[in-house]
Amino acid sequence: MKIGIDKIGFYVPKDYIDIVELAKARNVDPNKFTIGIGQDKQAVPQPYQDAVTMAASSADSILTDDDKKDLGLLIVGTESSVDESKSTAAFLMDLLDLPEDIRAFEIKQACYGATAGLQTAYDFVSQNPDKKALVIATDIARYGIKTPGEVTQGAGSVAMIISQNPRVLKLDHKSVYMTRNVGDFWRPTFSKTAFARGKFSNEVYVDFFKTLWDKYQTKYDATAADFSTMLFHIPYTKMGTKALRTLEGHVSDEKYAELTEHYQASIKFSREVGNLYTGSLYLGLLSYLVNAAKANEELLLFSYGSGAVGELYSGEIQPGFEKVIDQDAIMNLLNNREKMSISDYEKMYEIEYSDGTIVDPATVDAKFYLSEIKENERLYKKQN
Ligand code: CAA
Repeated sequence: MKIGIDKIGFYVPKDYIDIVELAKARNVDPNKFTIGIGQDKQAVPQPYQDAVTMAASSADSILTDDDKKDLGLLIVGTESSVDESKSTAAFLMDLLDLPEDIRAFEIKQACYGATAGLQTAYDFVSQNPDKKALVIATDIARYGIKTPGEVTQGAGSVAMIISQNPRVLKLDHKSVYMTRNVGDFWRPTFSKTAFARGKFSNEVYVDFFKTLWDKYQTKYDATAADFSTMLFHIPYTKMGTKALRTLEGHVSDEKYAELTEHYQASIKFSREVGNLYTGSLYLGLLSYLVNAAKANEELLLFSYGSGAVGELYSGEIQPGFEKVIDQDAIMNLLNNREKMSISDYEKMYEIEYSDGTIVDPATVDAKFYLSEIKENERLYKKQN
């Protein structure tokens, strides 16, 4: 049975900051941020937006009534959840008008959560071939104003429907994975911003990629010649470049040139949006699908979540995939955003809603939003 990604959708908040302006405000050479880190814009969520509202928006962009009827599983991968008990998935039941007879929960393992969700969804569909699964990656990446990580922030969500006879990406069911207890990145429950040993995190990430690529080649008797494209977890686009570079001199020059060219297509959207944490790999997939992919291409996908879990798996792009992806909607979303000044971004960063907040809908420019915090319970609304 063929199982994989049948649909893929995306949401990014309407506001962004320009990375050159951020560099100037921080007295940094802009080339460091645009070339050294590899970013151009950074999505900035409004205080009434969070992991829940962004997840609702990306899922809403692909879900039809027929999909809802067939859903048996909803998994949200996030490390920015709004509640220590209730899952982000439970909040989505009303917002997305989903039927009750589904299993819904959240997975947290840094940037690996959505991949854990995707592989769990694969197993679910293999056991329940007439059912579909909805997997959503949603995160706000925050390191804090004037921190080294500030340039690698971002926000957004990617939603995927997993089913049999998928129209976008068939998963090969070939996968290698590994876990180590590593202190490269963490966010204690008291903190809104992450703590990271950024350079160490890079080293672990590259080491995981190399280890898993060796494992994949051995387990499946594979070589780089089997793949036209490798997609990476890209919290910032330079990070994937570092993993890709480990192949230079170990694959033919032509193959390395092809992988590099395809990698450039896969990072276009991330350069415009920034870090989606667990959605980053899947934003890379979407960027590749919209900007360069061809039917029947074989992809290798590297997922990494600090702490740390890594997984390397493969899939095949399906003929007609382009008809299933709403490219116009995605490009409109990216192109019709508004630039925020660095000083406005800094002011908004400090806003934190507390108990008793009621959000005036007239101030909201999004379909899904946090409407109220009542007795410390977050309440959400949908508007047209
Ligand atoms: N022109 C061009 N390039 C320049 C430059 C200039 N003027 N000045 C510096 N550079 C280059 C440097 O050479 C360097 O390139 P290489 O990495 O190729 O060597 C790059 O710009 C960055 O320079 P620094 O290393 O000096 O930058 P920094 O000290 O400010 O740290 C960082 C960069 C480590 C990425 C930092 O931004 C950071 O800590 N970010 C947060 C951590 C992070 O994003 N980790 C991601 C992995 S974990 C993850 O994904 C999360 C998860 O699972 C949840």
